[in-house]
Amino acid sequence: MSQNLTLRRPDDWHLHLRDGAMLQAVLPETTRHFARAIIMPNLVPPVVTGAQAAAYRDRILAVLPDGADFTPLMTLYLTEDTDPDDVAAAHASGLVSAVKLYPAGATTNSASGVANFDKVRGVLERMAQIGLPLCLHGEVTDPAIDIFDREAVFIDRVLDPIRRATPGLRTVMEHITTRDGVDYALSQENLGATITTHHLIINRNHILVGGIKPHYYCLPVAKREDHRLALRAAATSGDPRFFLGTDSAPHTDALKENACGCAGCFTATNTLSILAHVFEEEGALDRLEAFTSLNGPAFYGLPVNDGTITLSRGDTVTYPEKIDTEDGPVTVFDPGFPLTWSVTA
Ligand code: NCD
Ligand code: ZN
Repeated sequence: MSQNLTLRRPDDWHLHLRDGAMLQAVLPETTRHFARAIIMPNLVPPVVTGAQAAAYRDRILAVLPDGADFTPLMTLYLTEDTDPDDVAAAHASGLVSAVKLYPAGATTNSASGVANFDKVRGVLERMAQIGLPLCLHGEVTDPAIDIFDREAVFIDRVLDPIRRATPGLRTVMEHITTRDGVDYALSQENLGATITTHHLIINRNHILVGGIKPHYYCLPVAKREDHRLALRAAATSGDPRFFLGTDSAPHTDALKENACGCAGCFTATNTLSILAHVFEEEGALDRLEAFTSLNGPAFYGLPVNDGTITLSRGDTVTYPEKIDTEDGPVTVFDPGFPLTWSVTA
């Protein structure tokens, strides 16, 4: 039975586009369907200053596919040396939409992140004053903490203290992976939480049972099934605190299928097909638009997009298994089951 679903054009509130050849290869995978995306600043070297963000935005705009209608929403990478005046100026000019906090060493290219949170207090206070959101990679890096507990411990040790010390700071818990994250988000005001596509599909068994699956390894790492179910309930609830941030994070196959494989799942290509499948399974197709297209703009104080996209359910959807880049192939996330929803208009 064919079925159509028309939504406001969606946005991606957490996206890695990289730079150079990789940027050029993966950008069309996002601009085909999404109108805007929050662009992660974890390049090497990171995007720290307003001037660096402006230059990166120009490099993205320079390789936009012909006819694409896409706005990159830039972010600054918070370091212990970040200058509050530079952040405020980048916000006032409309250049940046958020600042990103990576605990030093938590994930890919996070070496310049924050180790001593007291050192960024001044920047965070300024951000609270001017209404600039803080996006957080919510994992502690304490070697004594088990990797599967790092998000829950981050909430207690870092996130909640920051929020109490900086009233009014708008914060986004990025790519939540636990029931603890869902529960904390539900207990707070001025807080958003992004959820990735892949964390609605995989739990930690998918990574480890029957052989190690490097293309399912990302950070924060997928947790046990109970957490996946909590994420699915949150994403499909329609609650305005939850919105899509794919965290689509391309690495070449050579870097993923490696004795020390990089973290990141590349989901830009088939995200909307997968999400429609998930929302249909949960009996929540009528709430897909809130998750992909309405809740994010509301949190960021932006208008919803003018245009629409239409998803149709039909025969099994085909999509490329890999995206070719000059650096090598990038494997597209495999949900492990056939997809039947595709973007048709
Ligand atoms: C991201 C990357 O590759 O840049 N990787 C990931 O596993 N999600 C970094 C991040 O968002 O943690
Ligand atoms: Zn990310």
